[in-house]
Amino acid sequence: MFLFICDFIVLYAMTTVDHLPLRLRGAERSCSGRLEVYHNAAWGSICDDQWDIRDAEVVCRQLGCGKALRADGSAAFGAGEGVIWLNRVKCRGDEIHLWDCSYSLKNHTDCSHKEDAGVTCADSVRLVDGSSRCAGRVEVLHEGQWGTVCSAGWDMRDAAVVCREVDCGEAVDVLGGAHFGPGSGPIWMDDVDCSGSESTLKNCRSKGWGEHDCEHDEDAGVKCSDSVRLVNGGSRCAGRVEVLHRGQWGTVCGDDWDMRDAAVVCRELGCGEAGAAVRNAHFGPGSGPIWMDEVTCSGSESTLKNCRSEGWGEHNCEHDEDAGVKCSDPTICNTRLTDGPHLCSGRVEVLHKGTWTTVCDADFDQQDAEVVFRQLDCGLPVEVLGAAAFGRGEGQVWTEELQCRGNESQIYSCPTTSSPKNCSHDKDCGCLEGGIVRAS
Ligand SMILES: *[C@@H]1O[C@H](CO)[C@@H](O)[C@H](O)[C@H]1NC(C)=O
Ligand SMILES: *[C@@H]1O[C@H](CO)[C@@H](O)[C@H](O)[C@H]1NC(C)=O
Ligand SMILES: *[C@@H]1O[C@H](CO)[C@@H](O)[C@H](O)[C@H]1NC(C)=O
Repeated sequence: MFLFICDFIVLYAMTTVDHLPLRLRGAERSCSGRLEVYHNAAWGSICDDQWDIRDAEVVCRQLGCGKALRADGSAAFGAGEGVIWLNRVKCRGDEIHLWDCSYSLKNHTDCSHKEDAGVTCADSVRLVDGSSRCAGRVEVLHEGQWGTVCSAGWDMRDAAVVCREVDCGEAVDVLGGAHFGPGSGPIWMDDVDCSGSESTLKNCRSKGWGEHDCEHDEDAGVKCSDSVRLVNGGSRCAGRVEVLHRGQWGTVCGDDWDMRDAAVVCRELGCGEAGAAVRNAHFGPGSGPIWMDEVTCSGSESTLKNCRSEGWGEHNCEHDEDAGVKCSDPTICNTRLTDGPHLCSGRVEVLHKGTWTTVCDADFDQQDAEVVFRQLDCGLPVEVLGAAAFGRGEGQVWTEELQCRGNESQIYSCPTTSSPKNCSHDKDCGCLEGGIVRAS
């Protein structure tokens, strides 16, 4: 009876709390981390007993992040310090605030920081319509709706905040004028002015949500460097897997490494499908930190960094166990020639967001063709043909215009501009092969 009363009092205390500030710690991206709540003038952790995806959904919603991807337990984002304020959180999943759920709020000395709970939410900023995860039109989630950012005053400091927030490498380029194509829906931000140190674009100064004098043809874009790379495999689509964490490249242990994990890496790099997942330093041992161990991807993650693992830098491996990947076909991983008489002749297609896409001949020139041929190991092109010389492609036409200088090693290194062209499949481009005919 006494116990019952105690429980009742705790429950009563809970439901009268109408404000429980939340924050996330221990991760680089702003929408993931160890969850902390502010109570009695101190930040404290949440115990992971009964912690599940429905609870994470509420936290992600309250923090203005995208949908919940995972409810993390066992101090996946490191152990907190101080008090453990919450335990036995039970949400239905549709609550607006965590304080609308049932839970036990007190100094939980019955739980250890090894059981700290966390969440992985989808970001509230994303890059859309670029050639990889780390480039594209900037879109931001506000009141449950994705909208764009006007490129007026858009600069490298703003780009740096976005690149950090989406967990990519450095900002490489800022692009205005709907470089990645115009978005649709609301234009959420205009005159964005970040100091560069904000953890999310949403904290940067702007005119105010939805306040703007722009059109979608001024949508802002950004190119960041990738946060995953394949090393020592002879192409960007094969090699030892390395991942960028806290500004440092490190390797992945081969324990439990499989095709599902490899598929996430190949997709993230725009390299097609996984051909092989290799272990035991097949592509040579790396150096520096071993960042991930026991990686378990479901296969649908947009980046390897979102896959489950032991935690950053937690491992029991040596570099002679480093994991590697060969994507579908490293030599033709993101460009191919189709419908020609042989491998080095045909209609140019590029792999764009997982789909083979034809290239419009409007501005496809000798320099562009040289890069395609270099990438395919085909020697020098003799002739560039337009007007669907090798037949019309099907499906998508890539609207970005390639502006290769001619010395790039692969077409994704070429600058592009996207002046929306009047492309139809009548304008698909083909390259006729040069002196070298590949043995096949
Ligand atoms: C929580 O309880 C522990 C153990 O009784 C005590 O040392 C600590 O000061 C308490 N913390 C707070 C904030 O009440
Ligand atoms: C290609 O040539 C340009 C201009 O000469 C140079 O700036 C650039 O670094 C070269 N790129 C590569 C990949 O060699
Ligand atoms: C594209 O071509 C169609 C048909 O030839 C024409 O009606 C349309 O105005 C063109 N659009 C642009 C943007 O040039």
